[in-house]
Amino acid sequence: MCNKSNAPIGVFDSGVGGLTVVREIMRHLPNENLIYFGDTARVPYGSKSKDTIIRFSRQIIRFLRTKHVKAIVIACNTASALALDIVRQETDVPVIGVVVPGARAAVRETRNKKIGVLGTEATIKSDMYTKLMQQEDSEVSVKGKACPLFVPLIEEGFAKHKITKEVIDIYLHDVKQSGIDTLILGCTHYPLLRSSIGEYMGEAIHIVNPAYETAMDLKKILKEGKMENQEEGEAHYEFYSSDAPVKFKNFANAILPCNINWIEHINIEEY
Ligand code: DGL
Repeated sequence: MCNKSNAPIGVFDSGVGGLTVVREIMRHLPNENLIYFGDTARVPYGSKSKDTIIRFSRQIIRFLRTKHVKAIVIACNTASALALDIVRQETDVPVIGVVVPGARAAVRETRNKKIGVLGTEATIKSDMYTKLMQQEDSEVSVKGKACPLFVPLIEEGFAKHKITKEVIDIYLHDVKQSGIDTLILGCTHYPLLRSSIGEYMGEAIHIVNPAYETAMDLKKILKEGKMENQEEGEAHYEFYSSDAPVKFKNFANAILPCNINWIEHINIEEY
C-alpha cells in the first residue's frame, strides 16, 4: 500500500527522451519510487497540434493516476509548453514541467543575454521559452531553432551516426553564428546528442539541460509538501510504453544508471 510519501512519482514523455530527466531524478532523489510512461507509439509530439498534445497528456495523466502517483513530472518540453497550464488545473497532485526550470537556468547562466533554444516545432512555435526568459530578464534576446529530425534520429538509434552530425550542421549553422553564449536543449531527447552538439558549438557556449533543474524543483516541492519518501531500502521503478517494449528497454538500459528488465506495454488510448 502506498501512503502519501512512499507513493511513486509519475514521469512521462512522448518516447525515450524523458529518461534523461528520470536519470537526474534517480541521481538526486535516490529514495523516490518512479513510474515512467513513454508514448513511443505516438512519438513525435513536436509536429502535432496543441489539442492533440493536450489530449495525449490527459490520457497519460489518467493512466499515471491509476498508479496513485503523488506528483507528476512532464518530462517533455512540447507537452510542458502546450499542455502543462491546462492539465495542472485538472490534477489534484503537483504537476511540474521542464520549460520553467530550463528557462530559469539559462537566464542565470548567460553573460551576454543572448540565449539559443533548440526544440521541436511545437515548442519553438509556442514561444514559451522566450516569454518565460523575458519575464525573468527583459533584456534577454532569444534565437529559437526547431530541429524536427533530431527526435526520429534518436528514437531510431542514430544518435552517434554521421548523418546526425550532418543534420546538426544544417540546423545549428545559423545558431552558431548568432552570438549566443548559452544554448538550451529544449527537448528532453536532445541531451542524448549533447556531446555532438557541444563539439559543434564549441567550448565557449554554455549548454543548459533543463533535466537537472527540474529534478531540483521536484525535490523542493516534495520537501515543502512533506511528501519525501522516508522509507529505507531501494527505490522501486516501473516502466511502461505504448509500443515495442524491447526497443524501449534497450534505450532505458543505455541511458539510466541502473538495469531495467521489466517494461510493460500499455494501450494508452484506453485511458
Ligand atoms: N522529448 C519531447 C520534448 O521534450 C518530445 C519530442 C517529440 O515527441 O517530438 O519536446
